[in-house]
Amino acid sequence: FRPFSSLSSLSADEIMLQDSVRKLAQSAISPKVREMDESEHMSNDVISHLFNQGLMGIEVDSQFNGSESSFMSVILAIEELAKVDPSVSVLCDVHNTLVCTVFNKYATDPQKELYLPQLTTDKIGSFCLSEPASGSDAFALQTKATKTDNGYILNGTKMWITNAAEAQVFLVFANVDPSLGYKGITCFIVDKDQGVQIAKKEQKLGIRASSTCVLNFDDVFVRDDQVMGQVGKGYKIAIDILNEGRIGIAAQMIGLAQGAFAKAVPYTYQRKQFGKAVGEFQGMQFAFADAHTQIEAAKLLTYNAARLKEEGKPFTKEAAMAKYYASRIAQAVSGDAIEWAGGVGFTRETGIEKFWRDSKIGAIYEGTTNIQLATIAKFIQREYSD
Ligand code: CAA
Ligand code: FAD
Repeated sequence: FRPFSSLSSLSADEIMLQDSVRKLAQSAISPKVREMDESEHMSNDVISHLFNQGLMGIEVDSQFNGSESSFMSVILAIEELAKVDPSVSVLCDVHNTLVCTVFNKYATDPQKELYLPQLTTDKIGSFCLSEPASGSDAFALQTKATKTDNGYILNGTKMWITNAAEAQVFLVFANVDPSLGYKGITCFIVDKDQGVQIAKKEQKLGIRASSTCVLNFDDVFVRDDQVMGQVGKGYKIAIDILNEGRIGIAAQMIGLAQGAFAKAVPYTYQRKQFGKAVGEFQGMQFAFADAHTQIEAAKLLTYNAARLKEEGKPFTKEAAMAKYYASRIAQAVSGDAIEWAGGVGFTRETGIEKFWRDSKIGAIYEGTTNIQLATIAKFIQREYSD
């Protein structure tokens, strides 16, 4: 991949991580992408590489076997993985930005000591918020947690849960008292062997190697010490984590756009029509320049949101803008890339069409495009309505 020019302020450690993920993606993931897509299965070998290379606990303290690195490093890793396979990228993204981050920020010391070494070594995590009747309206969730001696009994159904087929540790949002509305939502740590049932694995348009499942919780007992954070504060955990998680999805989308660009553009300088390389026609060159600019703009939005978060500054609006814009340009660039390669772009062999199929999800998960726009609009109204 040819480097884009953006952000000269990456640290030496961040550049080193970026290079090492790039090499891993080329050597260990790239040869498996097509097979994983067609079989709709994530390779165990790829998962082992992610763990072995310290990519499954990038921000976690070294005392828990984590890489103790920056949020920007997570973003760079997600981006590099998505250049080669957005499915592998989202596995790593959910595990780091949604699961490990919840443990880092909200877990008690004993919960950290028990779970973080597992999550950085060999156990994958899932984040279970959405349900059949509550997607965008996430706080209307119906999974119930009934208090009992020494713990809670969980009943309900979760839908669209990424990593669920491979995961051992589930963060499950359930309501302890629906009469309180979303102020009853509580986050629970649930081990797979406590009774998490995989009811269905979805067959999808894109990111097909990434598992997405329906989960049933049928009288699943969890101990009091499996409550994450405070009872009734689960909604805060969910949205705080999603605000930053959205920067991860933006990174996935900018990686994807670069992956499609890098596959299609070199081909156009080889392919000759009318006596010259098709990439030399101005109609093609302007399209490349436009796409390149869009990718750069999305990258800057994404990196800026990441840096704001790292600096402890407000970043919710910037994260929503990054996710909104990056998912939009990822769809546009990957769709155009198919056309730049002509008929061969439309075939499975080149892998360009896969990027386009994979791009569609960026506008749906971790808050749809309309949810991002609603978030941005709230800030505009706050700023301009007084
Ligand atoms: N940041 C911080 N707090 C927020 C917030 C935000 N972006 N949006 C809402 N809140 C808070 C409000 O301040 C309020 O809290 P208090 O009562 O303590 O003040 C509370 O949330 C409710 O506010 P609203 O009534 O305005 O919110 P709502 O109920 O209309 O919708 C929402 C809130 C569910 C968060 C919605 O805006 C949203 O983001 N929906 C999308 C859900 C989502 O992103 N799901 C992702 C699932 S995980 C996933 O998808 C992973 C993956 O694919 C890889
Ligand atoms: P709906 O909420 O039904 O939305 C349908 C349409 O209505 C959308 O276009 C939406 O923008 C629009 N709409 C809804 N409300 C409004 C509004 N107020 N204003 C304007 N328009 C609106 N969830 C998890 O908890 N964990 C996961 O790991 C996870 N992984 C996922 C992986 C995949 C592949 C998919 C497809 C989903 C995943 N999700 C996960 C769920 C995802 O977050 C939801 O699909 C998403 O939040 C949208 O919810 P929905 O599908 O119910 O759509």
